[in-house]
Amino acid sequence: MAQGTSTAVVGLQWGDEGKGKLVDLLAPAHHAVVRYNGGANAGHSVVVRGERFSLHLVPSGILHPGVLAVVGNGVVVDPEKLLDEVRGLEARGVDTSGLVLSSRAHVVMPYHKTEDALREEELRTAQDSAAAGRGVLRVGEIGTTKRGIGPAYADKAYRASAIRVGDLLRPDVLAGKVEIACVFKNALFKGLGGSLPPCDPHSLTAALLEQGERLRARIRDTTALLHDMLAQGKRVLFEGGNATLLDVDHGTYPFVTSSSCSALGIGPGTGVPMNRIGSVLGVCKAYCTRVGAGPFPTEQINEAGNRIRERGREYGTTTGRPRRTGWLDLVALRYAVMINGVTGIALTMLDVLAGFDEIPVCVAYERNGERTDRFPPDGHDLREWTPVYERLPGFGQEITGARSRKDLPANAAEYVAYVERAVGVPAQIGSVGPDREQTIHA
Ligand code: IMP
Repeated sequence: MAQGTSTAVVGLQWGDEGKGKLVDLLAPAHHAVVRYNGGANAGHSVVVRGERFSLHLVPSGILHPGVLAVVGNGVVVDPEKLLDEVRGLEARGVDTSGLVLSSRAHVVMPYHKTEDALREEELRTAQDSAAAGRGVLRVGEIGTTKRGIGPAYADKAYRASAIRVGDLLRPDVLAGKVEIACVFKNALFKGLGGSLPPCDPHSLTAALLEQGERLRARIRDTTALLHDMLAQGKRVLFEGGNATLLDVDHGTYPFVTSSSCSALGIGPGTGVPMNRIGSVLGVCKAYCTRVGAGPFPTEQINEAGNRIRERGREYGTTTGRPRRTGWLDLVALRYAVMINGVTGIALTMLDVLAGFDEIPVCVAYERNGERTDRFPPDGHDLREWTPVYERLPGFGQEITGARSRKDLPANAAEYVAYVERAVGVPAQIGSVGPDREQTIHA
């Protein structure tokens, strides 16, 4: 059996852990960087020599000439957004010739974004006190990015009316699919949206064909391409979008996204089997954040939480929403390390914690006198548990200038060592600021 020489970089919390920076650091040692899940809901920020790039669909490897940037089949692609992103990168002098796109990837259509917003609105307004009186627990809104991600993946599972990137080059197939999709969507919009203008299959098809022409040179069988590269001994880096606790199967369901964000999604999302992956770098912040609705046991809606938000500039890359903030949750982190088969962690944003007298970390959950260190499999269930904290001594000094572990104040170094012991894998990289240089290598 082939042994893995490839690397995976995955988020271990609820996203925004700083994966973009890690991929950017590791990309030069690889021949391709591959996205395998999600879509324009993901936002990766990379700062290169003080210049900030916000990437949504284009893999972060694009910033390295000579490295292929592959959008795998598991991604849902909004062609308009992708073309915009490419244009923006080119305007800033980035060579995008290495960007390729799987013909098997699914297309996010304008009606998916409308549907996403309509469903969220329906979930929001469907909260009624009568339900609570009957002991009925409403899910409420998911707090999606409204990028059409859920409806695009749902249509993928529905099959017949789903549009794949390859269809953009097949006018006959495309027209038939768009026509049937519009029948379904118009019925839905009539029921839920009322006054929304109906989808017009002709204009939609025309726009997609035009986008297809602009993307034609980039559309490939990326599964074959990746296997050819691997057969030639080339190294591939898989870049997870979103993060483990948002994984549709293994996250805090139903408060998750609609794709397989953990390393487990690499197989279905690229066609490359797990035994090709040699190391899995799990990226986690030294604290936690979450955007959108859903359980967050260690959330701090207080001065400490505000301080983390401001120091960490915790505002969404994709939506600009203020992120919810809280202490590090080691129950969730241990679970994420297990699910992903993490071989090493990258602990990011450690600098943000400077100045706290003490830093609480969650070591277990408690409910009605019962204590557990297992992460509950259900989002609603998770809400009922409260965190049990251990308080670690804080560090007063700023650490953005640290470049090795020995540059860290003793309490900061001990914080890292504590996390390593708690999750059972080494911290291979530490990040103390957004710039490439603000990095601690093990
Ligand atoms: P969706 O992916 O737009 O359907 O949103 C589902 C949930 O995932 C919402 O809570 C979003 O805020 C969250 N989400 C999706 N992508 C990201 C991400 O890249 N970072 C953080 N949260 C995300």
